[in-house]
Amino acid sequence: MQSPRIDTEIMVKGWVRTKRGNKNIAFIALNDGSTINNIQIVADLSLFDEALLKDITTGACIAVKGTLVKSQGQGQNVEVVASSIELYGKSDAETFPLQKKGHSMEFLREIAYLRPRTNTFGAVLRMRHALAYAIHKYFNDKGFFYLHTPIITGSDAEGAGEMFHVTTFNLSNVPMDKSGAPDFSQDFFGKPTNLTVSGQMEGELGALALGDIYTFGPTFRAENSNTPRHLAEFWMIEPEMAFYDLSDNMDLAEDFIKYLIRYALENCMDDLEFLNNMIDKGLLDRLRFVVDNEFVRTTYTDAIKILVESGKKWEYPIGWGRDLQAEHERYLVEEHFRKPVILVDYPKEIKAFYMKLNDDGKTVRAMDVLFPGIGEIIGGSQREENYEKLLARIRELKLSENDYWWYLETRKFGTAPHSGFGLGFERLLLFMTGMSNIRDVIPFPRTPKNAEF
Ligand code: 4AD
Ligand code: MG
Repeated sequence: MQSPRIDTEIMVKGWVRTKRGNKNIAFIALNDGSTINNIQIVADLSLFDEALLKDITTGACIAVKGTLVKSQGQGQNVEVVASSIELYGKSDAETFPLQKKGHSMEFLREIAYLRPRTNTFGAVLRMRHALAYAIHKYFNDKGFFYLHTPIITGSDAEGAGEMFHVTTFNLSNVPMDKSGAPDFSQDFFGKPTNLTVSGQMEGELGALALGDIYTFGPTFRAENSNTPRHLAEFWMIEPEMAFYDLSDNMDLAEDFIKYLIRYALENCMDDLEFLNNMIDKGLLDRLRFVVDNEFVRTTYTDAIKILVESGKKWEYPIGWGRDLQAEHERYLVEEHFRKPVILVDYPKEIKAFYMKLNDDGKTVRAMDVLFPGIGEIIGGSQREENYEKLLARIRELKLSENDYWWYLETRKFGTAPHSGFGLGFERLLLFMTGMSNIRDVIPFPRTPKNAEF
């Protein structure tokens, strides 16, 4: 956007951050949310009603007409010399919750309806927007199609049973069938339905028709995980590509993340510098480090060896066949390799049913991308494209064949090798902003026992 010229009349509207001054003059720091930077308003007290100026306190909303001039003082290049001020909304100094600087993140979560007015959350939310835009730009420029997958689904895409049910039943009077189970034939959809845990299955259908697609939407997991990395409602980006094998998939994942970091470094510097100064002093260095270095690629089996031989005392014991916990992932990334790591070929028992079986019959073509400070940021795989093998896996795991009938059909008609992955948008934002709790990179977090606002 182009800035107005010096010595022209302008109108600015926004929220008062601070007001200071002396007997003759008031300096108001005004912020309209478009940037981390405030504009300074200079008000000659003799020109304004005393009562009006008294009401211009932190948090109030005002519109100011005035002249844009070169600033006399330090800390800003330009300022507005006010000729008229309209007060849109007062903000009572006694009760406005955002008076002092340095509120705890926990306190700010309790006032999530006001926290976007703080510098930190303004920066985070602007970066969230910029990265959402960059994601669409990346895929559009590469010829991927944005596929809108459903929010309400009748199948469990991960087969893990962590779903929120969707029903219009009156829960205090649910119709039962003869066996005493809820009679879903009488429910809105005539069958059990849930909020999606992933758009992948529908994404695969898209890839097997359009070539390269991606989804980007809200995803729901009813897992009772109270950690700084889990949300019950999060946003996921899921590209799915026909004719990609696991190695192509890893190349895309690495290129994609690096593109997003570069985009932020080129377009969000004001906010990044603020976050680097106030939240995490290592942020900019870490972002540049990831862009400049190749990710390590190694197998699950080798990673287990490293973890066992490290001699470390783990909270969760580790050995071949066990799933990695955040402490293991972070050891690999932060202490052993000191770089982002892509682990492949996990035991089939700890991964989803749809992953392609390796020739060893024990491991699958899974890939997890592990990041410093985060652990798993991406989960993906090459998909099992063979009908018999996929069906055998579904039966082996005692999943409901009925729920997956249409997914299986794609393997009957023109099946093709294909791969994809899911990037958790909020986990990416944790990395990109230096924030330490996932509840603080989404405007209104949903977590166990918390769905306020
Ligand atoms: O590893 P996940 O469960 O993989 C899938 O859902 C696949 N269907 C993706 C695919 O291949 N298309 O989840 C993918 C990513 C994780 O790596 C993590 O970044 C994020 O989604 N994620 C969560 N983020 C926040 N809160 C949660 N509860 C999350 N669960 C997963
Ligand atoms: Mg995963």
